[in-house]
Amino acid sequence: MRKILVAGNWKMNNDVEASLKLTENLKELSKEFDQNVDVIICPPFVSLYSVKQALNGTSIKIGAQNMHFEDRGAYTGEISPLMLKELGVEYVIIGHSERRQYFNETDETVNKKLKSALKYGLKPILCVGETLEQRESGIEKQTVKNQIVKAFEDIDLSDAEKMVVAYEPIWAIGTGKTATSQQANDMAAFIRLAIADTYDRELSEKITILYGGSVKLDNANEILSQSDIDGALVGGASLKAVEFSEIINYSK
Ligand code: PGA
Repeated sequence: MRKILVAGNWKMNNDVEASLKLTENLKELSKEFDQNVDVIICPPFVSLYSVKQALNGTSIKIGAQNMHFEDRGAYTGEISPLMLKELGVEYVIIGHSERRQYFNETDETVNKKLKSALKYGLKPILCVGETLEQRESGIEKQTVKNQIVKAFEDIDLSDAEKMVVAYEPIWAIGTGKTATSQQANDMAAFIRLAIADTYDRELSEKITILYGGSVKLDNANEILSQSDIDGALVGGASLKAVEFSEIINYSK
């Protein structure tokens, strides 16, 4: 049985004070969280330390939104996996489409970051997804398969088990447009097949696959009850404590 995972990606929102306020609100609400759901929040780098401290004693876990693949060195402005580990960060989002689109993230750097995250014991949340143009040209599956194959290149089976994959169609991120539950589930099932091709069926059945892209309270239930979807990566709606909590408790 795969466990449900709901992760909040705060993106470049909330200074330290606002991050702490949102964390306190979530902490309060977390007493009512569905115990069958793993909850992760991913604040901006500068808030990670304070938020992690504030989360002590709760079951909410913390993730970063990005990292560099090297452990140290002359990479001005970058954050290393070791620095994240030191703060008690457990997860890291890798290859988010906004990083691919605006910050030159490529399949190659995604693969390097995945290997590095796994090496240092961070659990990667690998993001994949097609553009609207790619979907309209009927190449969405090929696109996602390529991203998966390149991301998993030379990652061995035991490490692959620790990965979380988030299917995030780019046309649904922050646009208010959601993939239909059918589209989302079809792609999640297809990702499982692609992983079965690369590794084996057993791993593909075990791996956690999330959907992301305009997940909100009013569509969470429909999306999260799909057979191949094991949770959600939530952007905008994770900035509101009550809505995020209700998404977490969608099945209660
Ligand atoms: P959204 O973002 O929920 O605001 O569409 C999702 C994401 O980018 O992870």
